[in-house]
Amino acid sequence: MRNFQVAKTKDRMESEQHSVWLNAIIVIGMAFIVTGLLLLMSSTPENIGSLFVDNPLRIWALFAIALVILFTIHVFVGNMERDGRTAQKYLLIVYVSILVTIGLTLVCYEFINPYIAPITLLPVIITVFVGRRIAILCDGLFSALLLLAYMLVGPTGNMLSSEVMSGIVSMLVGYFVVFFLNRTSNRTRYLVTGVGIALLSMPLAFASELLVQLSSGTVDPLAMQGVLMESVKATLWSFAGNMLAVSIFLVTLPIFESVFKICTDFKLSEYCNFRVKVLRELAEIAPGTFNHCMMVGVLAESCAIAIGENPQLARTCAYYHDVGKTRSPEFFAENQHGGVNPHDDIIPEVSAKKITSHAQYGYDMLKKRGYPEEIAKVCLEHHGTMPVSYFYRKADKISDGNAELAKFSYPGPKPTSKVAAIIMLADASEAAARAAVHKVPLDVIVGNIFKERMDYGQFDDCPITFDDLHKIKMTIIEVLDGIHHNRVSYTPKI
Ligand SMILES: [Fe+2]
Ligand SMILES: [Fe+2]
Repeated sequence: MRNFQVAKTKDRMESEQHSVWLNAIIVIGMAFIVTGLLLLMSSTPENIGSLFVDNPLRIWALFAIALVILFTIHVFVGNMERDGRTAQKYLLIVYVSILVTIGLTLVCYEFINPYIAPITLLPVIITVFVGRRIAILCDGLFSALLLLAYMLVGPTGNMLSSEVMSGIVSMLVGYFVVFFLNRTSNRTRYLVTGVGIALLSMPLAFASELLVQLSSGTVDPLAMQGVLMESVKATLWSFAGNMLAVSIFLVTLPIFESVFKICTDFKLSEYCNFRVKVLRELAEIAPGTFNHCMMVGVLAESCAIAIGENPQLARTCAYYHDVGKTRSPEFFAENQHGGVNPHDDIIPEVSAKKITSHAQYGYDMLKKRGYPEEIAKVCLEHHGTMPVSYFYRKADKISDGNAELAKFSYPGPKPTSKVAAIIMLADASEAAARAAVHKVPLDVIVGNIFKERMDYGQFDDCPITFDDLHKIKMTIIEVLDGIHHNRVSYTPKI
């Protein structure tokens, strides 16, 4: 046993060492590419040539700064998620958006006008796909890198150039973006924010270009008209640049969503469309389960709103949580009609296996069809490691108390996100309420569901709080009460 643990620790250390080297190579490689692009952006070919010959230290200094900045971003993004795979995905998004932004900025600086450079694209992409904290960090660091590049390797080293000032304007506007956008923003919000930042950038660009124009010394009153014209031009270019950034984002949004399998609200509403193949199949093959999923969707959405989670994500996960039941739907109570129950003909162990396997099958099915991990893993986690009590008790009775609980339990894992916990509680409460609402008060039914899952430690791996659980419980009771309220009985016309 000891030898096994030593070998396991050695393996883990080796893989950690391997990942440190891999990360170092990625950061150094990125620093080389970024330095190269910044050199092309901030310098002329002649200037780069003379720098390499006379003052290569300036280029190395720029490389060192790029390395430190990218290392900082790498460490922050790498540590923002417990799940290593998600962190790698976020790192890739950040690096791709940095390279795309520098590339587009380079083209704008070179061929059009510095103020049209869509630098705001960087904070927009990172805010929506990675998060606000990282977007603020990247926006500030990227702009600092741009300024330092001009200071170190620019032809004049002049800080007051249109290129540098347009970078500062974009950074300030970028902070505005960070506070107004997030992953759950809709199309209207993107457009309103786009117009908002474009308008905000106008006075900033005007003032910046005026500063650039006046920095050369005293301006002849006659030449003042030209200075003002240049500033107005910069203002219009800046408006166009920020609109361009949001437009590029909206066009590339579906590409990012499908390449990185990230759920924005656009994508989630597509998944919730009943014409989607998986949901259509669920409705046709297992109509009882389909109805149950819709009810869980209503509950989950309200619970998510109550605790500040994404309601659209909760609803989508609820719609898909039981898709694994499309294999052998007749083994699940909600799909049994006419008193036929296939469990009557098999032993409890096999019944439990048939029931518990829907979690893994649902996960595999969604992964095979390209669904994001965030949705698929709810299939696996929505029962956690709970036992299928009915068949466990049945087997225990047959075997005179010798039934093994593990054989009648879901393999897990337990919920690892608040949304998975919501689905677990909404799912069990909906099913229990449907079965017993006219016999037992709703608060008792839901209270028991919560207590049982807490007793089994189902929230041990989930960042959910007691306050969240209380709010979820009250919401489920309220919504279920609305669904199952007593109606005035129907009296046919005589
Ligand atoms: Fe289920
Ligand atoms: Fe369910």
